[in-house]
Amino acid sequence: SKHLLAIEGLEPPHIADLLDLAESYALLNRSGKTQRDLLKGRTLINLFFEDSTRTRTSFELAGKRLGADVINMSVSTSSVNKGETLLDTASTLNAMQCDLLVIRHAQSGAPALLSQKVDAAVINAGDGTHEHPTQALLDALTIRRHKGRLEGLVVAICGDITHSRVARSNIHLLTTMGSRVRIVGPPTLIPADAARLGVEVFTDMKAGLAGADVVMMLRLQRERMVGGLVPSAREFFRFYGLDADKLAVAKPDSIVMHPGPMNRGVEIDSAIADHPTRSVIGEQVEMGVACRMAVLDILARRLPRNR
Ligand code: CP
Repeated sequence: SKHLLAIEGLEPPHIADLLDLAESYALLNRSGKTQRDLLKGRTLINLFFEDSTRTRTSFELAGKRLGADVINMSVSTSSVNKGETLLDTASTLNAMQCDLLVIRHAQSGAPALLSQKVDAAVINAGDGTHEHPTQALLDALTIRRHKGRLEGLVVAICGDITHSRVARSNIHLLTTMGSRVRIVGPPTLIPADAARLGVEVFTDMKAGLAGADVVMMLRLQRERMVGGLVPSAREFFRFYGLDADKLAVAKPDSIVMHPGPMNRGVEIDSAIADHPTRSVIGEQVEMGVACRMAVLDILARRLPRNR
């Protein structure tokens, strides 16, 4: 496809190719020799209807490092506030001959809808509770750099699974690549379709973490818990917050991940988040730039030349 809308549906060779290319960009970024003209003359627009620090900034950096003209549309000061619809906003950007449209939206499926209406290649930067594909790619690259592989690894994804597009994209990617994925959380935050996802479900945190190679923590998405049960921070931390005691049952060389933004003292103890050898949270952000460069690179090769 000319778009990146989801991890679901990608085949193992596609994912492996993306990760290999991202690894080469990670090495280039560290050496300071990033290629600069692959996207010369191309326009990338970041269209974020939800807040972001990491994803928006890293798409901007990735686009600029590859030579694109990057526009960050500020939705809060745009004509969306005057009632312009998502599709009319997209048509307006389309008329400006945008080549790559990176979109984050609270509604699941919004990027897929847009992809049918615009000429640009559309990249999903997170849609509702559906998917966040570039997050799963950067997580997989980080895991592969530490463990050398994805196949056969035990990965425990913990916390608010129901509302997490990060969890969904990671589940699709990791199960496709042969990892053994566990989801761990309170019954109220385990999705009803968990069985279909090919994962093992745990409601006891230590049982879910026992022998894990990778422990991936998630933020409690209070903004998506309208009308449902919202656990208190203290209660959640006691049963499902990652601290030294709970982490002790995972493998001694297991790594700790978090997509960010973190709520310290809610889903993760500060001492674990900042652990010098176990936490790879900073590296996840670094790999985010490399993975987004790889995605832009691959999609740009499929763009028509004469737009
Ligand atoms: N992980 C992630 O998507 O972070 P942002 O919301 O800051 O982009």
